[in-house]
Amino acid sequence: MELHIHKDYADLSAAAANMIIDCVQENPQALLCMATGDTPRLTYQLLAKRVLAENIDVSRCFFIALDEWLGVSPDNKGSCHWFLQEYLLRPMHIAPAQVHLFDAFAKDEQAACESMNQLIAAKGGIDLALVGVGMNGHIGFNEPGTSVESLTHVAVLDDTTQTVGQKYFSEKMEIKKGITVGLQQVMAAQKLLMMANGKKKAPVVSRLLTGDISNQFPASLVRLLPQAVLMVDEEAAL
Ligand code: GLP
Repeated sequence: MELHIHKDYADLSAAAANMIIDCVQENPQALLCMATGDTPRLTYQLLAKRVLAENIDVSRCFFIALDEWLGVSPDNKGSCHWFLQEYLLRPMHIAPAQVHLFDAFAKDEQAACESMNQLIAAKGGIDLALVGVGMNGHIGFNEPGTSVESLTHVAVLDDTTQTVGQKYFSEKMEIKKGITVGLQQVMAAQKLLMMANGKKKAPVVSRLLTGDISNQFPASLVRLLPQAVLMVDEEAAL
């Protein structure tokens, strides 16, 4: 894993947007697995701006969501669906045929997992995964203790995730379960970009870098991966 420390959130986000653009320019048919959350918001805004300004061809890439809260409507601004549409997909004029997001109301949750697994397999795996890191070290909704062999699955969310997750919603939400691309699939990405910014992520980054490498703190697993880049700002690196 490489560690890149950037001065601030703006620099970090610009560097992440660059990496995504490099990936798409190298492989115009790239499969991109995208996180939501506060961390990548500016990255997506900068990415969309550059794609439009520089006429970068994103018409053949394919986008998948890293995760989703089960039972949260796509119209809810706290949903991953809404976030990806608002900051990433709509601004870049990505066609619906280039996107696969999770159905938060899937009657058959196993089938929803299976269709994501099949899609990832059919495309030969993920080319670039952009992930954040949870306050408990989760990657997507791969919570502490998740098997490194896991494929897309439904996760019972940790208390930390349920509590911290309230920040995305305008009113109190019941968020007990999530659906997520699995650790095995994320860790097998050709390029894994993990991002963290701000003071509150400093203890998480410190444990990620210096603690045991274990699925009890999933983010620590990226240290094992030569194709991983951990990008942080100075506040998160302290
Ligand atoms: C959330 C999301 C993850 C995200 C992480 C960090 O629960 N489901 O995909 O990467 O936790 O979020 P944030 O960037 O808001 O700190």
